[in-house]
Amino acid sequence: MAAELRLTVGLDFASRVIAWQQAKGRHQLPWQQTRDAYRIWLSEIMLQQTQVQTVIPYYDRFLARFPTLQALAEAPVESVLEIWAGLGYYARARNLHRCAQTVLADRAGKFSSDPDENAELPGIGRSTAAAISVFAFGRRAAILDGNVRRVLARCFGVERGDSAAQHEREMWSLAEALLPEDRIEAYAQGMMDLGATVCSRHRPACDACPLQLICVACRNGRQAELPQRVVRKALPERASSVLLLTDGRRVLLERLPLSGIWGGLLSLPAGIGESADAFAGRQGCRILSRSTLPPIRHVFTHFRLTITVLRCDVEVFGLAAGETRWEWLPLADVSAAALPTPIRKLLLSPGLSG
Ligand code: ADE
Ligand code: SF4
Repeated sequence: MAAELRLTVGLDFASRVIAWQQAKGRHQLPWQQTRDAYRIWLSEIMLQQTQVQTVIPYYDRFLARFPTLQALAEAPVESVLEIWAGLGYYARARNLHRCAQTVLADRAGKFSSDPDENAELPGIGRSTAAAISVFAFGRRAAILDGNVRRVLARCFGVERGDSAAQHEREMWSLAEALLPEDRIEAYAQGMMDLGATVCSRHRPACDACPLQLICVACRNGRQAELPQRVVRKALPERASSVLLLTDGRRVLLERLPLSGIWGGLLSLPAGIGESADAFAGRQGCRILSRSTLPPIRHVFTHFRLTITVLRCDVEVFGLAAGETRWEWLPLADVSAAALPTPIRKLLLSPGLSG
Protein backbone atom coordinates (compact mmCIF):
# COMPACT_ATOMS: atom_id res chain seq x y z
CA MET A 1 0.00 0.00 0.00
CA ALA A 2 1.36 3.43 -0.91
CA ALA A 3 2.38 5.52 2.09
CA GLU A 4 -0.10 8.27 1.29
CA LEU A 5 -3.04 5.92 0.93
CA ARG A 6 -2.09 4.22 4.16
CA LEU A 7 -2.11 7.57 5.91
CA THR A 8 -5.62 8.42 4.71
CA VAL A 9 -6.92 5.03 5.68
CA GLY A 10 -4.98 5.46 8.92
CA LEU A 11 -6.80 8.62 9.96
CA ASP A 12 -10.07 6.97 9.22
CA PHE A 13 -8.95 3.80 10.94
CA ALA A 14 -8.06 5.40 14.28
CA SER A 15 -11.20 7.52 14.48
CA ARG A 16 -13.34 4.46 13.81
CA VAL A 17 -11.57 2.55 16.59
CA ILE A 18 -11.86 5.44 19.04
CA ALA A 19 -15.56 6.07 18.35
CA TRP A 20 -16.26 2.37 18.77
CA GLN A 21 -14.27 2.19 22.00
CA GLN A 22 -16.26 5.06 23.50
CA ALA A 23 -19.57 3.42 22.60
CA LYS A 24 -18.91 -0.31 22.87
CA GLY A 25 -15.48 -0.87 24.44
CA ARG A 26 -14.62 -1.83 28.00
CA HIS A 27 -14.45 0.98 30.56
CA GLN A 28 -14.74 -0.73 33.93
CA LEU A 29 -11.65 -2.93 34.00
CA PRO A 30 -9.84 -2.45 37.34
CA TRP A 31 -6.61 -1.22 35.71
CA GLN A 32 -8.54 1.40 33.74
CA GLN A 33 -9.39 3.17 36.99
CA THR A 34 -5.79 4.21 37.72
CA ARG A 35 -2.73 5.91 36.25
CA ASP A 36 -0.41 4.27 38.77
CA ALA A 37 2.37 2.79 36.63
CA TYR A 38 2.90 -0.01 39.15
CA ARG A 39 -0.70 -1.18 38.77
CA ILE A 40 -0.71 -0.77 35.00
CA TRP A 41 2.54 -2.69 34.69
CA LEU A 42 1.17 -5.50 36.89
CA SER A 43 -2.02 -5.76 34.82
CA GLU A 44 -0.12 -5.84 31.53
CA ILE A 45 2.19 -8.63 32.74
CA MET A 46 -0.79 -10.67 33.95
CA LEU A 47 -2.63 -10.05 30.66
CA GLN A 48 0.31 -11.20 28.52
CA GLN A 49 -0.84 -14.81 28.42
CA THR A 50 -4.08 -14.78 30.39
CA GLN A 51 -7.59 -13.57 29.63
CA VAL A 52 -9.18 -10.59 31.35
CA GLN A 53 -11.79 -12.57 33.31
CA THR A 54 -9.14 -14.85 34.80
CA VAL A 55 -6.79 -11.96 35.56
CA ILE A 56 -9.21 -9.74 37.52
CA PRO A 57 -9.35 -11.75 40.80
CA TYR A 58 -5.58 -12.36 40.69
CA TYR A 59 -4.96 -8.67 40.11
CA ASP A 60 -7.08 -7.70 43.12
CA ARG A 61 -5.47 -10.31 45.41
CA PHE A 62 -1.98 -9.36 44.24
CA LEU A 63 -2.51 -5.67 45.03
CA ALA A 64 -4.06 -6.45 48.40
CA ARG A 65 -0.90 -8.42 49.27
CA PHE A 66 1.63 -6.12 47.53
CA PRO A 67 0.07 -2.64 47.40
CA THR A 68 3.27 -0.92 46.22
CA LEU A 69 6.28 -1.66 44.08
CA GLN A 70 8.42 -1.46 47.20
CA ALA A 71 6.29 -4.02 49.04
CA LEU A 72 6.68 -6.37 46.07
CA ALA A 73 10.43 -5.80 45.72
CA GLU A 74 11.03 -6.49 49.41
CA ALA A 75 8.92 -9.65 49.58
CA PRO A 76 10.48 -13.11 49.19
CA VAL A 77 9.94 -14.51 45.69
CA GLU A 78 8.15 -17.54 47.21
CA SER A 79 5.32 -15.32 48.42
CA VAL A 80 5.00 -13.81 44.94
CA LEU A 81 4.81 -17.28 43.39
CA GLU A 82 2.19 -18.25 45.94
CA ILE A 83 -0.13 -15.41 44.87
CA TRP A 84 0.60 -16.25 41.22
CA ALA A 85 -0.30 -19.93 41.73
CA GLY A 86 -2.75 -21.04 39.04
CA LEU A 87 -2.07 -18.20 36.57
CA GLY A 88 0.63 -20.26 34.84
CA TYR A 89 3.74 -19.07 32.98
CA TYR A 90 5.59 -18.60 36.26
CA ALA A 91 8.57 -16.96 34.56
CA ARG A 92 6.28 -13.93 34.52
CA ALA A 93 6.11 -13.93 38.33
CA ARG A 94 9.86 -14.36 38.76
CA ASN A 95 10.55 -11.58 36.23
CA LEU A 96 7.95 -9.39 37.90
CA HIS A 97 9.78 -9.71 41.20
CA ARG A 98 13.21 -9.08 39.61
CA CYS A 99 11.78 -6.12 37.72
CA ALA A 100 10.40 -4.56 40.91
CA GLN A 101 13.79 -4.99 42.59
CA THR A 102 15.58 -3.40 39.62
CA VAL A 103 13.20 -0.43 39.46
CA LEU A 104 13.53 0.09 43.21
CA ALA A 105 17.33 -0.20 43.25
CA ASP A 106 18.29 1.52 39.98
CA ARG A 107 15.40 3.80 39.09
CA ALA A 108 14.31 5.34 42.37
CA GLY A 109 11.23 3.09 42.43
CA LYS A 110 9.65 4.69 39.37
CA PHE A 111 8.85 3.42 35.89
CA SER A 112 9.81 5.76 33.07
CA SER A 113 7.26 7.27 30.67
CA ASP A 114 9.66 6.27 27.87
CA PRO A 115 8.84 2.84 26.40
CA ASP A 116 12.45 2.24 25.31
CA GLU A 117 13.66 2.54 28.89
CA ASN A 118 11.01 0.21 30.30
CA ALA A 119 11.62 -2.34 27.53
CA GLU A 120 15.05 -3.01 29.06
CA LEU A 121 13.48 -4.34 32.27
CA PRO A 122 12.90 -8.06 32.97
CA GLY A 123 9.66 -9.39 31.50
CA ILE A 124 8.77 -6.19 29.62
CA GLY A 125 8.83 -6.52 25.84
CA ARG A 126 8.24 -3.80 23.29
CA SER A 127 4.45 -4.09 23.33
CA THR A 128 4.10 -4.21 27.13
CA ALA A 129 6.46 -1.21 27.43
CA ALA A 130 4.23 0.70 25.00
CA ALA A 131 1.09 -0.23 26.97
CA ILE A 132 2.65 1.14 30.20
CA SER A 133 3.56 4.40 28.44
CA VAL A 134 0.08 4.76 26.97
CA PHE A 135 -2.04 3.82 29.99
CA ALA A 136 0.10 5.28 32.79
CA PHE A 137 1.52 8.34 31.04
CA GLY A 138 -0.73 9.03 28.05
CA ARG A 139 2.28 8.76 25.71
CA ARG A 140 1.89 7.94 22.06
CA ALA A 141 3.27 4.44 21.47
CA ALA A 142 2.27 1.43 19.37
CA ILE A 143 0.96 -1.72 21.06
CA LEU A 144 1.22 -4.99 19.16
CA ASP A 145 -0.08 -7.85 21.25
CA GLY A 146 -1.87 -10.91 19.90
CA ASN A 147 -5.27 -9.20 19.69
CA VAL A 148 -3.93 -6.13 17.92
CA ARG A 149 -1.95 -8.28 15.48
CA ARG A 150 -5.11 -10.15 14.48
CA VAL A 151 -7.11 -6.97 13.85
CA LEU A 152 -4.32 -5.40 11.78
CA ALA A 153 -3.52 -8.52 9.77
CA ARG A 154 -7.19 -8.91 8.85
CA CYS A 155 -8.03 -5.28 8.26
CA PHE A 156 -4.98 -4.66 6.05
CA GLY A 157 -4.70 -8.16 4.61
CA VAL A 158 -1.11 -8.59 5.81
CA GLU A 159 0.48 -11.84 4.59
CA ARG A 160 3.39 -13.38 6.44
CA GLY A 161 5.74 -13.76 3.48
CA ASP A 162 8.96 -15.80 3.79
CA SER A 163 10.86 -13.73 6.30
CA ALA A 164 9.62 -13.64 9.89
CA ALA A 165 11.85 -10.65 10.62
CA GLN A 166 10.46 -8.76 7.63
CA HIS A 167 6.90 -9.55 8.72
CA GLU A 168 7.67 -8.32 12.22
CA ARG A 169 9.03 -5.02 10.88
CA GLU A 170 6.00 -4.63 8.66
CA MET A 171 3.54 -5.20 11.53
CA TRP A 172 5.31 -2.72 13.79
CA SER A 173 5.50 -0.02 11.14
CA LEU A 174 1.83 -0.52 10.34
CA ALA A 175 0.94 -0.25 14.04
CA GLU A 176 2.99 2.93 14.32
CA ALA A 177 1.66 4.51 11.13
CA LEU A 178 -1.92 4.08 12.35
CA LEU A 179 -1.49 5.83 15.72
CA PRO A 180 -3.74 8.86 16.18
CA GLU A 181 -2.28 12.19 17.29
CA ASP A 182 -4.38 12.21 20.43
CA ARG A 183 -6.81 10.09 22.47
CA ILE A 184 -4.14 7.47 22.48
CA GLU A 185 -5.58 5.59 25.46
CA ALA A 186 -9.01 5.20 23.90
CA TYR A 187 -7.34 4.06 20.69
CA ALA A 188 -5.07 1.51 22.40
CA GLN A 189 -7.86 0.14 24.56
CA GLY A 190 -10.14 0.07 21.52
CA MET A 191 -7.69 -2.05 19.53
CA MET A 192 -7.36 -4.53 22.38
CA ASP A 193 -11.10 -4.63 22.99
CA LEU A 194 -11.87 -5.09 19.29
CA GLY A 195 -9.48 -8.03 19.11
CA ALA A 196 -10.79 -9.56 22.32
CA THR A 197 -14.51 -9.14 21.67
CA VAL A 198 -15.43 -8.45 18.00
CA CYS A 199 -12.54 -9.66 15.87
CA SER A 200 -12.15 -12.96 17.69
CA ARG A 201 -9.99 -15.71 16.26
CA HIS A 202 -12.74 -18.14 15.29
CA ARG A 203 -15.93 -16.12 14.89
CA PRO A 204 -15.26 -12.48 14.05
CA ALA A 205 -18.49 -10.45 14.29
CA CYS A 206 -17.83 -8.33 11.22
CA ASP A 207 -21.37 -6.92 11.25
CA ALA A 208 -20.63 -5.32 14.62
CA CYS A 209 -17.16 -4.10 13.63
CA PRO A 210 -16.33 -0.42 13.05
CA LEU A 211 -13.72 -1.50 10.48
CA GLN A 212 -16.08 -3.54 8.34
CA LEU A 213 -16.14 -1.08 5.42
CA ILE A 214 -12.35 -0.84 5.16
CA CYS A 215 -11.40 -4.40 6.16
CA VAL A 216 -9.58 -6.45 3.51
CA ALA A 217 -10.29 -9.82 5.14
CA CYS A 218 -14.00 -9.05 5.43
CA ARG A 219 -14.29 -7.78 1.86
CA ASN A 220 -12.58 -10.89 0.50
CA GLY A 221 -14.06 -13.39 2.93
CA ARG A 222 -10.58 -14.25 4.22
CA GLN A 223 -11.21 -13.97 7.97
CA ALA A 224 -10.37 -17.63 8.49
CA GLU A 225 -7.06 -17.35 6.60
CA LEU A 226 -5.80 -14.23 8.34
CA PRO A 227 -3.68 -13.83 10.31
CA GLN A 228 -1.64 -16.59 8.71
CA ARG A 229 -0.35 -19.13 11.17
CA VAL A 230 3.31 -19.36 12.01
CA VAL A 231 4.64 -22.65 10.72
CA ARG A 232 6.40 -24.11 13.73
CA LYS A 233 9.02 -26.78 13.74
CA ALA A 234 8.05 -29.88 15.70
CA LEU A 235 9.08 -29.35 19.29
CA PRO A 236 11.69 -31.68 20.79
CA GLU A 237 10.37 -34.35 23.15
CA ARG A 238 11.61 -34.77 26.71
CA ALA A 239 10.64 -37.23 29.40
CA SER A 240 10.86 -37.25 33.17
CA SER A 241 9.51 -39.32 36.00
CA VAL A 242 8.20 -38.17 39.34
CA LEU A 243 7.21 -39.80 42.62
CA LEU A 244 3.83 -39.20 44.17
CA LEU A 245 4.12 -40.14 47.83
CA THR A 246 0.87 -39.85 49.73
CA ASP A 247 -0.58 -41.09 52.98
CA GLY A 248 -4.11 -40.32 51.73
CA ARG A 249 -4.13 -37.00 53.51
CA ARG A 250 -0.93 -35.32 52.40
CA VAL A 251 1.49 -35.43 49.50
CA LEU A 252 5.26 -35.02 49.59
CA LEU A 253 6.47 -32.05 47.55
CA GLU A 254 9.83 -30.54 46.76
CA ARG A 255 10.55 -26.82 46.51
CA LEU A 256 12.38 -26.47 43.16
CA PRO A 257 15.48 -24.30 42.83
CA LEU A 258 14.79 -20.85 41.36
CA SER A 259 16.74 -21.44 38.16
CA GLY A 260 14.77 -24.22 36.41
CA ILE A 261 11.63 -24.20 34.25
CA TRP A 262 9.37 -24.40 37.30
CA GLY A 263 11.79 -22.44 39.46
CA GLY A 264 10.55 -21.70 42.97
CA LEU A 265 7.40 -23.80 42.66
CA LEU A 266 6.47 -26.85 44.70
CA SER A 267 6.47 -30.03 42.65
CA LEU A 268 6.58 -33.80 42.94
CA PRO A 269 10.09 -35.14 43.56
CA ALA A 270 11.82 -36.02 40.26
CA GLY A 271 15.10 -37.68 39.33
CA ILE A 272 15.71 -38.86 42.89
CA GLY A 273 18.71 -41.00 41.91
CA GLU A 274 17.92 -43.86 44.30
CA SER A 275 15.17 -46.45 44.73
CA ALA A 276 11.71 -45.27 45.71
CA ASP A 277 12.02 -47.30 48.93
CA ALA A 278 15.33 -45.70 49.88
CA PHE A 279 13.94 -42.26 49.09
CA ALA A 280 10.77 -42.90 51.10
CA GLY A 281 12.88 -44.11 54.03
CA ARG A 282 14.87 -40.88 54.04
CA GLN A 283 11.58 -38.98 54.07
CA GLY A 284 10.41 -40.83 57.17
CA CYS A 285 7.87 -43.11 55.52
CA ARG A 286 7.41 -46.65 54.24
CA ILE A 287 5.79 -47.65 50.91
CA LEU A 288 2.71 -49.84 51.30
CA SER A 289 1.72 -50.13 47.64
CA ARG A 290 2.64 -48.59 44.31
CA SER A 291 1.16 -48.06 40.85
CA THR A 292 2.15 -46.27 37.66
CA LEU A 293 -0.37 -43.59 36.67
CA PRO A 294 -1.18 -42.62 33.06
CA PRO A 295 1.60 -40.30 31.81
CA ILE A 296 1.05 -36.54 31.83
CA ARG A 297 1.79 -34.57 28.66
CA HIS A 298 2.71 -30.92 28.86
CA VAL A 299 3.74 -28.48 26.14
CA PHE A 300 6.27 -25.78 26.93
CA THR A 301 7.31 -23.03 24.52
CA HIS A 302 10.48 -24.95 23.56
CA PHE A 303 9.72 -28.62 24.13
CA ARG A 304 7.11 -31.21 24.96
CA LEU A 305 7.37 -33.11 28.20
CA THR A 306 5.98 -36.51 29.09
CA ILE A 307 5.91 -37.12 32.83
CA THR A 308 5.63 -40.63 34.21
CA VAL A 309 4.14 -40.76 37.67
CA LEU A 310 4.88 -43.52 40.18
CA ARG A 311 2.24 -43.30 42.87
CA CYS A 312 3.26 -44.75 46.22
CA ASP A 313 0.84 -45.05 49.09
CA VAL A 314 2.86 -44.72 52.24
CA GLU A 315 2.64 -44.69 55.97
CA VAL A 316 4.50 -41.84 57.57
CA PHE A 317 6.29 -42.71 60.79
CA GLY A 318 8.44 -39.68 61.29
CA LEU A 319 9.46 -36.40 59.74
CA ALA A 320 12.62 -35.99 57.71
CA ALA A 321 15.22 -33.83 59.46
CA GLY A 322 13.99 -30.21 59.12
CA GLU A 323 14.84 -29.53 55.50
CA THR A 324 12.75 -26.73 54.01
CA ARG A 325 13.21 -28.30 50.59
CA TRP A 326 10.60 -30.99 51.38
CA GLU A 327 7.05 -30.36 52.40
CA TRP A 328 4.13 -32.65 53.26
CA LEU A 329 1.31 -30.60 51.75
CA PRO A 330 -2.25 -31.43 52.85
CA LEU A 331 -4.25 -32.51 49.78
CA ALA A 332 -6.87 -29.97 50.82
CA ASP A 333 -4.31 -27.19 50.18
CA VAL A 334 -3.34 -28.28 46.68
CA SER A 335 -5.57 -25.83 44.82
CA ALA A 336 -4.08 -22.83 46.62
CA ALA A 337 -0.41 -23.88 46.47
CA ALA A 338 2.22 -22.71 43.96
CA LEU A 339 2.37 -25.89 41.87
CA PRO A 340 3.06 -26.30 38.14
CA THR A 341 -0.29 -26.52 36.35
CA PRO A 342 0.00 -30.18 35.16
CA ILE A 343 1.06 -31.31 38.65
CA ARG A 344 -1.81 -29.40 40.25
CA LYS A 345 -4.24 -31.05 37.82
CA LEU A 346 -2.85 -34.47 38.64
CA LEU A 347 -3.15 -33.88 42.38
CA LEU A 348 -6.71 -32.54 42.02
CA SER A 349 -7.83 -35.51 39.94
CA PRO A 350 -10.32 -37.80 41.66
CA GLY A 351 -9.05 -40.90 43.42
CA LEU A 352 -6.11 -39.38 45.19
CA SER A 353 -7.50 -38.76 48.63
CA GLY A 354 -9.83 -41.79 48.56
N1 ADE B 1 -4.75 -7.07 27.24
C1 ADE B 1 -3.54 -6.50 27.39
N2 ADE B 1 -3.66 -5.29 27.94
C2 ADE B 1 -4.98 -5.09 28.16
C3 ADE B 1 -5.73 -4.05 28.73
N3 ADE B 1 -5.13 -2.96 29.18
N4 ADE B 1 -7.06 -4.19 28.79
C4 ADE B 1 -7.64 -5.31 28.33
N5 ADE B 1 -6.99 -6.32 27.79
C5 ADE B 1 -5.66 -6.22 27.72
FE1 SF4 C 1 -12.09 -8.38 12.11
FE2 SF4 C 1 -14.33 -8.59 10.66
FE3 SF4 C 1 -13.63 -6.28 11.82
FE4 SF4 C 1 -12.28 -7.19 9.74
S1 SF4 C 1 -14.40 -6.55 9.77
S2 SF4 C 1 -11.42 -6.34 11.59
S3 SF4 C 1 -12.30 -9.39 10.15
S4 SF4 C 1 -14.18 -8.20 12.84
